[in-house]
Amino acid sequence: MSKQINTEHFWMPFSANRQFKSQPRLMVAAEGMHYTTDDGRKVLDGTAGLWCVNAGHGNPKIVAAIQRQAATMDFAPTFQMAHPLAFEAASKLVSIAPPGLNRVFFCNDGSEGVDTALKIALAYHRVRGDGMRHRLIGRERGYHGVGFGGISVGGIAGNRKHFGPALPAVDHLRHPLNITKNAFSRGIPEHGAEMADELEQRLLALHDPSTVAALIVEPLQGSTGVIIPPKGYLQKLRAICDKHSILLIFDEVITGFGRLGSAFGADYLGVMPDMIVCAKGLTNAAVPMGAVVVKQEIHDAFMAAAPENGIEFSHGYTYSAHPLACAAAIATIDVYKEEKLFERAAELAPYFEEAAHSLRGLPHVKDIRNLGLVCGIELDSQIGKTTTRAFDIFVKCFWEKNVLIRTTGDIIALSPPLIISKQQIDELFGVIAEVLKAE
Ligand SMILES: Cc1ncc(COP(=O)(O)O)c(C=O)c1O
Repeated sequence: MSKQINTEHFWMPFSANRQFKSQPRLMVAAEGMHYTTDDGRKVLDGTAGLWCVNAGHGNPKIVAAIQRQAATMDFAPTFQMAHPLAFEAASKLVSIAPPGLNRVFFCNDGSEGVDTALKIALAYHRVRGDGMRHRLIGRERGYHGVGFGGISVGGIAGNRKHFGPALPAVDHLRHPLNITKNAFSRGIPEHGAEMADELEQRLLALHDPSTVAALIVEPLQGSTGVIIPPKGYLQKLRAICDKHSILLIFDEVITGFGRLGSAFGADYLGVMPDMIVCAKGLTNAAVPMGAVVVKQEIHDAFMAAAPENGIEFSHGYTYSAHPLACAAAIATIDVYKEEKLFERAAELAPYFEEAAHSLRGLPHVKDIRNLGLVCGIELDSQIGKTTTRAFDIFVKCFWEKNVLIRTTGDIIALSPPLIISKQQIDELFGVIAEVLKAE
């Protein structure tokens, strides 16, 4: 460390606090594709921060928009009041959202977005007089943030086990990862569409479809270690939801804003949900913000049901549509459009795929899977020590190779900013290859 800091008071989220504090990994600046560490090294960002800095770090237009707004108006309430940027940000988001999804509820992050979407789903059925629909379905290994709603529909055991029963009336589909059949798949895997059938054959048969309000899934499961939907799988989920009037929510906190090479995963995968939860890349992570984008008929059902001049949906956050976040979102979406970053991601995807699969055959590599600018490299675990191998590689990449990667379990997950160059793609995978060979 260049300067001694007191690390004892900050209780770090989702971190091995004691390990970290024994040798802190500190970033002090960021620009474009790189972080600068406190000891003056430039580190290539292979993860867009946390899947969120899609336009690269410190984009001058986004920075200027936030600075301007901070100096103009720091805050205005959006409960029974508002400010113009709130409406502009919503319209801007709708301008890139799939057709028909055109009403926006703002919140501050992905977790709040998930809880908001689940509440909208439950209340939607109720305001239409179908209040029997109280059940929510998620998926094993799903990550939907850390609110009680999100951990209830989420399926990562470690994120749930300490927190009691959470929401009642929740069930989970199995996830579709099948390494036996789909190992080293490039893009959409061939096998596994039938995994969607269990929604109808098992869960709806068990619970009765008329009790189910919504199904929430990540189109591509990111945080759990990159699980890509097999061919035809999401289409089946959509058809089953349609058949039984169940709302389909896509949690696009990771897949939104160009990660797969189009604005949303829904566009790329050709399946339209009833609601999209987004966050992260919405503001390029420069100011926290999340949003739920819903079909107009869902919004209109609330408007029709409430008494005149009554509040239609009793939900919201002090910082819903915060002026700084709105300014950042508007500038960010403009940057995505002006710099054609979603198109750029689509163009780079085949090169990224080749580079990713060049790691096949290296020590400990059990599977490689990719879509758009996302890649998961699954490693054999050390006996009795799951997570150790990948975490070791993460630490080595950071200290010895000046590259930031992310790991979950024994899976390396890569999701660079969409501005990455081919040379930097080579560097990213080249470094991982070197470290793997030395393992
Ligand atoms: C799919 C998904 N949903 C929700 C979240 C939670 O978002 P946040 O950490 O902003 O609350 C994440 C975070 O990674 C995510 O990947």
